[in-house]
Amino acid sequence: MKRKFFIDTDTASDDAVALIIALRHRDVDVIGIGVVAGNVPLEMGVQNALYTRELCGSSAPIYVGAAQPLARELRTAQFVHGNDGMGDIGLDLVGRQPNAGSAIDELIKSAHEFEGVLELVTLGPLTNIALALQKDPSIAKKIKRCVVMGAVADHIGNVTPVAEFNMWVDPEAVEVVLQSGMNLEFVGWDISRKFAVITPAESAMLRAMDTPFATFTVDIQRVLEKFCENETHLAGFDLPDPIAIAYAINSSVADEVRNMHLVVETKSPITEGMVVMDALGIMHQTPNALVVTSARHDVFMSMLMDALEA
Ligand code: RIB
Ligand code: CA
Repeated sequence: MKRKFFIDTDTASDDAVALIIALRHRDVDVIGIGVVAGNVPLEMGVQNALYTRELCGSSAPIYVGAAQPLARELRTAQFVHGNDGMGDIGLDLVGRQPNAGSAIDELIKSAHEFEGVLELVTLGPLTNIALALQKDPSIAKKIKRCVVMGAVADHIGNVTPVAEFNMWVDPEAVEVVLQSGMNLEFVGWDISRKFAVITPAESAMLRAMDTPFATFTVDIQRVLEKFCENETHLAGFDLPDPIAIAYAINSSVADEVRNMHLVVETKSPITEGMVVMDALGIMHQTPNALVVTSARHDVFMSMLMDALEA
């Protein structure tokens, strides 16, 4: 029996690779994909998800979600992934039709239909998840687990000195999710920065696979690669969403996880979006999330290459 996954995404160049991993995995049935504004404006994220689904030959439904954060103006990451979010390499990213139904309502319906077995994976801001929880709080305990690509366990941010982009876009949504009682598992950008960097040699190896999925995976990181070179100073381009979804599918991607109490900053203009992780338990609060604190690059690469085979 395949596992039931619902994926929420702000589809840009790393999200697209995460979708390929899930859509092409033999053990996973992606029963829904919700799109949220984040990396790119909503409609662009929808088109990018539809393009990626078509590349995979999948019929997984794709639903339109929130165009704005709960309480703020949208701040995108087109400076990281390109204006179209997919490396600005001239892909035909227009004119595809999403499925009828809102991402919020379809997530709620799926939580009830697959009570106790639905695995939710979030790859973007948590706006859709927060709206679904506010509409039907009962889904918190019906969803088996929620794997979140977000935050940073070492508090070294990628959009401010202390905040990771997905959490920073909509901190109010993070607060709703952290207080919901859902079984939360965080895979932070620290994991991507340390264990999911694709070096030039590895990028050449992927390209040498010479499959449509491998070529696409490398080509669409064109703008991200420049951002990593000039801003985050990584030894290649990193793939946060793909390592998060790889962990969601195969927990042996992680070689250390910790149970911690997490809180999010929503007020300070300096640390807004920072998810503070109480590593020492000094707040004496009940832990509300599992956090991956170390991972296996080799296990991740093996899963990535499997997904990119013809
Ligand atoms: O901080 C990395 C996250 O922000 C990834 O999900 C990336 O796609 C962007 O959404
Ligand atoms: Ca993303």
